[in-house]
Amino acid sequence: MQSILVIDDEKNMRWVLERGLKDCGHRIDTAASGLEGLERAKLHEPDLVILDLKMPGIDGLETLKRLKELYPRLPVVMTTAHGTVETAIEAMKCGAADYIIKPFDLEEMKIVIEKNLAVQELVKEVDYLRSELNLKYNRQNIIGKSEAMEKVFTMIERVADSNATVIVYGESGTGKELVARAIHYNSARREKAYIQVNCAALPETLLESELFGHEKGAFTGATARRPGRFELAHHGTLFLDEIGELSHPMQAKLLRVLQEKSFERVGGIETLKVDVRIVAATNRDLLAAIDSGAFREDLYYRLNVIPIYLPPLRERKEDIPMLIRHFLDKLDVKKRLKHIAPEALQALVNYQWPGNVRELENVIERAVIIAAGDTLTLEHVPFYSRAKASEQQNIICDIPDGGISLEEVEKLLLVKALAKAEGNQTKAAHLLKISRPTLLYRMEKYGLR
Ligand SMILES: Nc1ncnc2c1ncn2[C@@H]1O[C@H](COP(=O)(O)OP(=O)(O)OP(=O)(O)O)[C@@H](O)[C@H]1O
Ligand SMILES: [Mg+2]
Repeated sequence: MQSILVIDDEKNMRWVLERGLKDCGHRIDTAASGLEGLERAKLHEPDLVILDLKMPGIDGLETLKRLKELYPRLPVVMTTAHGTVETAIEAMKCGAADYIIKPFDLEEMKIVIEKNLAVQELVKEVDYLRSELNLKYNRQNIIGKSEAMEKVFTMIERVADSNATVIVYGESGTGKELVARAIHYNSARREKAYIQVNCAALPETLLESELFGHEKGAFTGATARRPGRFELAHHGTLFLDEIGELSHPMQAKLLRVLQEKSFERVGGIETLKVDVRIVAATNRDLLAAIDSGAFREDLYYRLNVIPIYLPPLRERKEDIPMLIRHFLDKLDVKKRLKHIAPEALQALVNYQWPGNVRELENVIERAVIIAAGDTLTLEHVPFYSRAKASEQQNIICDIPDGGISLEEVEKLLLVKALAKAEGNQTKAAHLLKISRPTLLYRMEKYGLR
């Protein structure tokens, strides 16, 4: 149900509109003057206002201006008598959505209202989608409270509004793409294009036409002119992912664009100028690549204007619990997993995460799928079973060549468990999964008291 506010000094008119529009399923509120209308609008934002132009006190035009100050997006339909159309047009210039001449047919009024309400819905939807997009890619979506991540956040905020080239370094799965997007969506270019290219995904010739576009007939199969990613990213941001994988000829071509901000399409002679902000990323050590001759030093200096380093997850373990919560929120749509068993959390924090945050996300996704109860336990941690197997192997591997008696092994384990439990018998019994009396009995047996 949408709410419509009718502001008109004529009692009759208010009555007609109130009666006539109610059966369209809208909630109708009325006011007899501009001031009263403003008061009502302040109390509760209407979805649409029908406003009479000619009223005693503050007139329709002034009321319109004040309404618009209050709610710039609010659609206001002006009603006006014959002969005052000029004022109605002036009102349109001040932001009125429409006007309708009195006396009007109620059906005509209904059409105008429905049309403007529909437009308003679209405006709200666009606003919503835009804010979602901003939220999605602003720092709230990059999780982390470690010092290293705080540094990354500060860098993103600091560099976003400049046009400087940024290069993001980090192992696979550390969130380089997320940072690139955050830079774009926090910059003044956020309303323009964000275009990305994976430099490792395409063979050289295809990559060239992908980046710079091609003219019709430039090569077999080029049946039409096609703009490249540089052109598409004009006024926006171009994310060059896996930059360390570029071939030498492509490095030379990229260097030229970075230096001159211009290029030609493949098979073309026209030089195109573009305004593009570059964010690059790599999981390679570019300095080592320079040493080995795989990467051009001059290109490195062009790219390395503002470096951002994403540390591997194993070096910021304090972020792991937060990330687990974040992925549970995101992936456990039915909110089934309410708890995390302490041992499971421990195992997740202790793990080395070679695949970084992406691997953690996958582990949580798997847990959400396989867990039957409301708790994430060790059984849902895939590498835990592997680690457990290797631990067990360790114990068995200790068997000396000359063999060992079961009793000796038992004694050894008792000693180890007591040492691990720092002499606490209850804990030692727990570690060996036996009762405390059994532990005491065996300690007695082997003279360990
Ligand atoms: N700090 C973080 N907070 C929340 N999600 C993250 C974070 N870091 C990474 N992710 C998630 O992990 C996954 C991998 O991130 P992303 O693709 O940005 O990594 P990458 O460094 O570009 O990896 P690759 O080098 O393999 O391309 C994505 O789903 C991303 O949303
Ligand atoms: Mg990536």
